[in-house]
Amino acid sequence: LLNEYDHFMLKEILEQPASLKNTLENRIKNDKVYLPEVETFLDTHSFERFNKIDIIGNGTSYHSGMVGKSIMDKLLSIPVEVSLSSEFTYEHGKLDESKLVIVLSQSGETADTLTALKEAKSNGAKTIAITNNKRSNIARQADCLISMNAGPELAVAATKAYTSQITVLSLLSIHLCVQTESPSEMFLKELIEALKELPDIVDQTLVMTEDAIDSFAQVTEDQPNLFLIGRGLDYVLALEGALKLQEVAYLHANAYAAGEVKHGTMALVTPGVPIIALATQPHLKGKMVSNIRELKTRDGYVFGITTVGDDALTEVVDEIMYIPEAHSLLMPIVAAIPLQLLAYYSGTVRGYNVDRPRNLAKSLTVE
Ligand code: M6R
Repeated sequence: LLNEYDHFMLKEILEQPASLKNTLENRIKNDKVYLPEVETFLDTHSFERFNKIDIIGNGTSYHSGMVGKSIMDKLLSIPVEVSLSSEFTYEHGKLDESKLVIVLSQSGETADTLTALKEAKSNGAKTIAITNNKRSNIARQADCLISMNAGPELAVAATKAYTSQITVLSLLSIHLCVQTESPSEMFLKELIEALKELPDIVDQTLVMTEDAIDSFAQVTEDQPNLFLIGRGLDYVLALEGALKLQEVAYLHANAYAAGEVKHGTMALVTPGVPIIALATQPHLKGKMVSNIRELKTRDGYVFGITTVGDDALTEVVDEIMYIPEAHSLLMPIVAAIPLQLLAYYSGTVRGYNVDRPRNLAKSLTVE
């Protein structure tokens, strides 16, 4: 199963061009999104009946849900809220048949998410599950199932599941947007084109980043702490990067919204502390530069990740990594690649079993 790879985690990171191709297979035809399972679901429960969408998940699935919310906020006009399943079950707003709950779970067996799904259903809400396991409990109990088709993910750390979940959420957002009265044709067309190019862009990203991120992992080997900062979707990405580093490299990695660091966390910035600054969102790069300058005055060691051809960060960071540019809403997929690799190399350089991190399991069947 592992073929030439040392670990499932690396195999699964490297196979993302193929897993994304599988996720997209037969989903875009003649520049239109094709989700027959959602079409059938909406034949019974028309989209107009819903006045709110809740997205729920845990860990990485929660992070992809946060990205999904941003995409839906751009495409739909109803409110979208994203919650941790473990919180949603016990603290949710009004739930009834006018609510659509989108349930994210790679394994389809996470107890927190399954309980939240049951809570939503028992209150009359309608549910769509996005999972990688068609035979799972969550898949069977939801009103509608969208299969991610990412292929088996065996390492405990979610990598290809995250990129496929965001891809499915993009497809679903487009599909729901088409049901509305005034879909923005131009915007949808751009996003569909960008989705078609995604597997190739992820392939290029792997080629461009693997060696450099391996050296950065060696440089930070003796550091117990690491900060990740970003704004907007880059902040969501920072949360996901931090989770990966905690999980497989046992690093005290924390993510911050870049503008918030000065409101307290700055006190923790000591000379040499590694900081990954994510700047993939064009409209936020200027503000990111100012935030990085503040960190540099405290002598933090800043490793910037930005899109190729952009020199906004070059002068202010200690090291820079360029990644290919994609549609800004899909950058959390592209920029996740170097962070997944960083977690993998940071774990292996410290000699840890990255496929089976201590105290963790692939699917958590207790609340
Ligand atoms: O199978 P699920 O997507 O429901 O799992 C949820 C989380 O337990 C999972 O994403 C976890 O956070 C990952 N191991 C992180 O890499």
